[in-house]
Amino acid sequence: MEHLPDYAEHLIRARRATRAFRPDAVPEETLRAVFSLAGAAPSNSNTQPWHIEVVSGAARERLGDALVEAHAEKRLSMDFPYHDGLYQGTYQRRRQQAGERMYSAVGIGREDRTAREAYNAESLRFYGAPHVALLFTAPNAEARMAADVGIYAQTLMLAMTAHGIASCPQGLLGFYADTVRAELGVENRKLLLGISFGYADATAPANRVRIPRAELDETTRFHA
Ligand SMILES: Cc1cc2nc3c(=O)[nH]c(=O)nc-3n(C[C@H](O)[C@H](O)[C@H](O)COP(=O)(O)O)c2cc1C
Repeated sequence: MEHLPDYAEHLIRARRATRAFRPDAVPEETLRAVFSLAGAAPSNSNTQPWHIEVVSGAARERLGDALVEAHAEKRLSMDFPYHDGLYQGTYQRRRQQAGERMYSAVGIGREDRTAREAYNAESLRFYGAPHVALLFTAPNAEARMAADVGIYAQTLMLAMTAHGIASCPQGLLGFYADTVRAELGVENRKLLLGISFGYADATAPANRVRIPRAELDETTRFHA
């Protein structure tokens, strides 16, 4: 290692939510390396309360079809509830800003609800990524375990970035938990989110999006 802080800066900032992929599959050896590295994530009392289903090929095709169908039929089933108004004030402003940037990159206007809805529905096919990882946790999981899975998710995405693999975390995939469970034969574990991944399509307009972050002082206080 030459200068670890430089590596960290590069790695963490190089990860971005990627929304267009090339079709080529990630080699199995790389998949195993990346998911093995992600397992080094920390968790409450080392419980490692995550169970990951990695879906590719024909199974991925079937899952995408099932999700699009569930969406069309409004068969929502969330293990970790979401509702309008969850994000308020500053959070809601940041959410809106991120949405604006994301949609305008793909040429969808502010008021075009129909096009936004179609783009979201199509994202249930994993933005065209050849693989998706579904992140499950225990059947009785609450916030504490969900936090551990969140830490796992970021560790996984950074491991992917280091291997040249792009990813998109998709909370939306967790809106159809019953559908995902039925397709993958998962009994009763709770689904937090999915992470679509593969090699980025570097030419796609969707991947030109840059989402800004709050200033340090807005989020962090130092006490001494
Ligand atoms: C838990 C979680 C859920 C997310 N869900 C979605 C999603 O359903 N669809 C999507 O396109 N992006 C989703 N994102 C991506 C965020 O919009 C993105 O990370 C954020 O705007 C910052 O952009 P960046 O990742 O490119 O830095 C999600 C991110 C996280 C961490």
